[in-house]
Amino acid sequence: MGKTLFIKTWGCQMNVYDSARMADVLAPVGYRPVDRAEDADMVILNTCHIREKAAEKVFSELGRLRALKRRKAAGGGRLIIAVAGCVGQAEGAEIMARAPYVDMVFGPQTFHRLPEMVATADAAPGRCVLDTEFPAESKFDFLPEEQGTQGISAFLAVQEGCDRFCTYCVVPYTRGAEFSRPAGDILAEARRLLRGGALEITLLGQNVNAWKGEAPGGGVWGLGRLLREVAGLEGLARLRYTTSHPGDMDEELISAHTEIPALMPFVHLPVQSGSDRILAAMNRRHKADDYRRVVERLRAARPDIGLSSDFIVGFPGESDQDFAETMGLIAEIGYAQAYSFKYSPRPGTPAAELTDDLVPETVKGERLTALQELVNRQQVAFNRAAIGRVMPVLFDRPGRRPGQLLGRSPYMQAVHAEAGEDRLGTLAEVRVTGAHANSLSGCLAGAANRDAGATLEASA
Ligand code: SAH
Ligand code: SF4
Ligand code: F3S
Repeated sequence: MGKTLFIKTWGCQMNVYDSARMADVLAPVGYRPVDRAEDADMVILNTCHIREKAAEKVFSELGRLRALKRRKAAGGGRLIIAVAGCVGQAEGAEIMARAPYVDMVFGPQTFHRLPEMVATADAAPGRCVLDTEFPAESKFDFLPEEQGTQGISAFLAVQEGCDRFCTYCVVPYTRGAEFSRPAGDILAEARRLLRGGALEITLLGQNVNAWKGEAPGGGVWGLGRLLREVAGLEGLARLRYTTSHPGDMDEELISAHTEIPALMPFVHLPVQSGSDRILAAMNRRHKADDYRRVVERLRAARPDIGLSSDFIVGFPGESDQDFAETMGLIAEIGYAQAYSFKYSPRPGTPAAELTDDLVPETVKGERLTALQELVNRQQVAFNRAAIGRVMPVLFDRPGRRPGQLLGRSPYMQAVHAEAGEDRLGTLAEVRVTGAHANSLSGCLAGAANRDAGATLEASA
């Protein structure tokens, strides 16, 4: 009999990709995805451990699922609860102790073994199956082919894990060591995604530009070469990659931005801080000037490039002067968009040992507000600059109202436009007429001409 599966996903795009792949792994053993936990025989929480708040959400969600599990049991049914992802990896034992009703805990590197885990959980209800190993085998060699659940804009993991060990970050511990998939496997997956209807592919990695993969004919390629090969595949309209470390932006990757029309002119390039002192304490292994130079090279390669970044405020020891240097760097670079966070000490990371010169919560809050105001002003200015321009928009969902669609500009801006449903899942030229803090609005460019054409045809 068919069973139902609900996956709730937090965290980065890699988790979104992993959730789709978990559904792929479970399809052959009879699980089909549903939209609500209430309708599911199994719920997987695919979790994020990056900041304390992210990790806490898991336990409150587990509380709700416990009640659901009880209701199901009272009706003679059963709900399997699984914790996957980076919290599963980092806090397996704690989850089992705090939430003994959880049936399975596993990490990002073992979900190819889900069928075995489910069989064990089925055979021994009431016991928790834990699999947080870092297996010698790569899960990618065991995952079944994608079931095409990703739609017109698809993620493709090319690299996973991180060897950079920034002192605040859990990723090297939760995802493990850097691993690059062979180019042949990536190209085969890209072809399948395109055959399945994808128009846009985003190559993913925790440190994606560190990708160095086995080339199909032998030898090793870097990300710049891989982008060229993926761009050459039939049916691809748009190509992106994320997230990059400034220290791994090589010449081949930068020149890809000049040479590949499908490569979108938008790069997420986190700098974290503008202070060399703090960058050193973070073990970022680049200085603010190194970052400036990478941005200069990118802009020389592609003058219309838009940039985004991540920032951490309130890292231990961050002085007013350090923070002022971050604000100065932001003012100088000019971002299209940025994410910013208060520093959150994470268990097991070197920075969590720094307890002497902590930045008070109130100061962290003030700095975050000031930084976000600056970035928001830049974002609004960037959005306003689009007014009057015609740009290609990939319509990937219905809009708020009937007769409206929502899509993405080359710069990842959300664009609302008056357009018929027949445009859903297509790329269309949009004339931007309005700019808001977080989105643009517009109308199909040439819509008037096209309508006139249709009338002519009809009357001919
Ligand atoms: N691989 C990416 C980012 C991974 S995590 C990179 O190298 O940039 C996404 C972002 O979360 C980071 O860029 C950082 O800004 C933020 N982050 C990571 N650990 C954090 C912590 N302990 N406290 C606050 N923010 C953190
Ligand atoms: Fe974390 Fe740094 Fe690796 Fe990014 S580069 S994943 S911030 S350790
Ligand atoms: Fe979070 Fe793990 Fe991604 S900690 S940001 S889900 S790599």
